[in-house]
Amino acid sequence: KVAFLQNLVGNRGDLCDETLQNASQTFGFDISVVQKLTATQFLLPGFVSHLWASLLLDNVLTCAPPNEQIDTHIHAPQYVFTGTGCDLPLLQWLEKYTFPREQAFSDPTYAQSAYQRAVTRTLRNGTTTAAYYATIHSEATKILATICAETGQRAFIGKVCMDRNSPSTYIESTEDSLKTTNEVADFISQLSTKGRVKPIITPRFAASCTSELMHGLANIAKKRDLPIQTHLSESHAEIEMVEKLHPECSSYTAVYADHGLLTNKTVLAHCVHLSPSERKLVYDANAGVAHCPNSNFSILSGVCNVRRLLQEGIKVGLGTDVAGGYSASMMDAMRQAVIASKVTFMNSRDASKDGRKPWQPLNLGEVLYLATLGGAKVLGVDGVVGNFEVGKEFDAVLVDLKPGDGRCVDVFGHDGIMDSIEKFVYNGDDRNIAKVWVGGRQVL
Ligand code: GUN
Ligand code: FE
Repeated sequence: KVAFLQNLVGNRGDLCDETLQNASQTFGFDISVVQKLTATQFLLPGFVSHLWASLLLDNVLTCAPPNEQIDTHIHAPQYVFTGTGCDLPLLQWLEKYTFPREQAFSDPTYAQSAYQRAVTRTLRNGTTTAAYYATIHSEATKILATICAETGQRAFIGKVCMDRNSPSTYIESTEDSLKTTNEVADFISQLSTKGRVKPIITPRFAASCTSELMHGLANIAKKRDLPIQTHLSESHAEIEMVEKLHPECSSYTAVYADHGLLTNKTVLAHCVHLSPSERKLVYDANAGVAHCPNSNFSILSGVCNVRRLLQEGIKVGLGTDVAGGYSASMMDAMRQAVIASKVTFMNSRDASKDGRKPWQPLNLGEVLYLATLGGAKVLGVDGVVGNFEVGKEFDAVLVDLKPGDGRCVDVFGHDGIMDSIEKFVYNGDDRNIAKVWVGGRQVL
């Protein structure tokens, strides 16, 4: 075990000790938590394959990389219908299920109750950082930000902007959209969260935002130095719709580029069907991709070739995309990312006949990376979290293999460390998330 860990950690075998000392000093993190771990527990901070900083305490593996699980794309108001409505493709799904349910967030009392549950659920699943879409309602969006601040989850909060192609009861004027975006950003910026809860500019997607709104939002992002999140190239019908709306642009991706929305702080959800020139635009802008495999399967969008995005040097993280995706768990996102990559592999196996190589599936380390440091890079917080590097904040998840029905427990003594982590990723659930820290504070 030790040799194996040394191999992973390289010459940085002292990193974990140092990181924990650092965390305990900077944030008052109680180092005895680690020392008291039992034989079935380990601390998985950032799930980052190439940056495991680890130490063995008796029979216990303590990985102090960032065990944060970073959800780079989730719709907080859609939590209320998670696990339903997976029978329609995107555009019909939006119209029939999503817009009516989001509209209900005009009521702050409802928003308070629903958002409290949504944030509690993601924390329960070990999500230490989430990039949330809220709704068009500024009151409800402020409530979501306040809940994140109070519970201690690290979060990006986006007031959703949409001024066209939306129901008459769930739409805003261009002027209102820009005004409330600024107002919500002001509100979030004055919350005392040590910068852990931040605003993010959120044009829903090009189909629901006029050119004027997109330009206006790009200006706000630039002026306030804020990140941006939107959807891109999710389904074929959506792509067609956007291309029809913008014949003056050379592609869907070019619509965002031409409106100033493609920056190195832009998070692009899905990116399933990008052409080579679109991928080049994304790469050149150093924008990031939120890969949402559960959603891509559930609402029939397609299979994103993440291996190709990674090979081309594009930043990628994972998103649950609740409720297009039916699970709020980043463990689920990791599993589905592996499955999606295997589908891509199987569909490309014949490539060798044309002298091409098949796209290799993602391995365990790679999906752990995407769920942690990969997501941190996409959200521009890799200097702060993403692994257990000395100097970063202490976001971590304590994993206990024991709770639940015993699926993760090594009864017969066969499992090595990586087997245990693999069992947790494939068989574990929120019962195995024993504790969660954000910025050194225990939040669960
Ligand atoms: N595209 C525009 N809005 C949405 C949404 O709410 N979910 C998903 N998956 N795609 C979208
Ligand atoms: Fe989405």
